[in-house]
Amino acid sequence: MTSPKNGQKIVGLAPNREHSFYGRDIVSVKQFSKQDLGYIFTVADEMRGIVKRVGATDLLKGYVLANLFYEPSTRTSSSFIAAMQRLGGSVIPIHGVQYSSVSKGESLPDTIRTLECYADVIVLRHPEMGASEIAARYATKPIISAGDGIGEHPTQGLLDLYTIYSELGTIDGLHVAMVGDLRNGRTVHSLARLLRMYDVSLTFVAPEILRLPDDVKGELTEAGRPVREMGRVEDAIEEADVLYVTRVQKERFADLRDYEAVKGCYEITPELMSRAKQRMALMHPLPRVGEIRYDVDDDPRAAYFRQMENGMYIRMALLAAVLGKA
Ligand code: CP
Repeated sequence: MTSPKNGQKIVGLAPNREHSFYGRDIVSVKQFSKQDLGYIFTVADEMRGIVKRVGATDLLKGYVLANLFYEPSTRTSSSFIAAMQRLGGSVIPIHGVQYSSVSKGESLPDTIRTLECYADVIVLRHPEMGASEIAARYATKPIISAGDGIGEHPTQGLLDLYTIYSELGTIDGLHVAMVGDLRNGRTVHSLARLLRMYDVSLTFVAPEILRLPDDVKGELTEAGRPVREMGRVEDAIEEADVLYVTRVQKERFADLRDYEAVKGCYEITPELMSRAKQRMALMHPLPRVGEIRYDVDDDPRAAYFRQMENGMYIRMALLAAVLGKA
């Protein structure tokens, strides 16, 4: 059987070449249609069922994933590993690039061309915006972005949208408020771009220096989704069906004095949650560093741990889909 990117042989049972995901790179949520989202969410539901019933399957037996992380990660990295292993495949984990030939000066294209000699699909996290697209240009096997700098985090965007649907049973008609570091938060950029396809109201809550980038704002406006911006979470919480909270990303600041000025600008507390709707979802891509107090965790509206678990089902669906086995 062949990969559509280059016609090279890949191992395993016959893949379904008919589906549009086969052999595709996943580097931005802009590439998805609503039909694509419905398909991925349906497969993720099936993956959840498999894991709950029997724990694992051999759908990707014989396939290898290269998990290449140039930046730290707990959730994305381990959920991709778990996803591949629960599908019966195996993983080349490269999580400390300082111990790889990257430390000898090897370029990203050469690293990608090396790993695809051994793997059928490559997951890449990189600190530079656009790195996944560069990798995809050089790769003959599918590249899945696990986040590139302050650009996008497409698989997180998918799992966030899937979580909203799982928690509230709809996306159309919702009021989604995003809070925190909207400038540097790549998960915000991906989720906002996905939400623009739906009939939603959007509010963005951030200090002046952490407001949503102009290009994302422009895309929302062009799609007919007005951008409402404010500085106080107290002014947004009462009408929010989804409150999506993010960390202020210390590692993205050139001047740490700017970070010091805005760190800790928002804190979700039980008192604040008492002003929220009874039926709503409090979400966070995690890790958190003080934005949501631990004594909020037992609130049934706190969806961030379920959100994390959903990430594995979405990533199982994506791996199966790009390898033509969904
Ligand atoms: N949400 C997320 O990307 O978490 P990690 O940085 O731990 O992967």
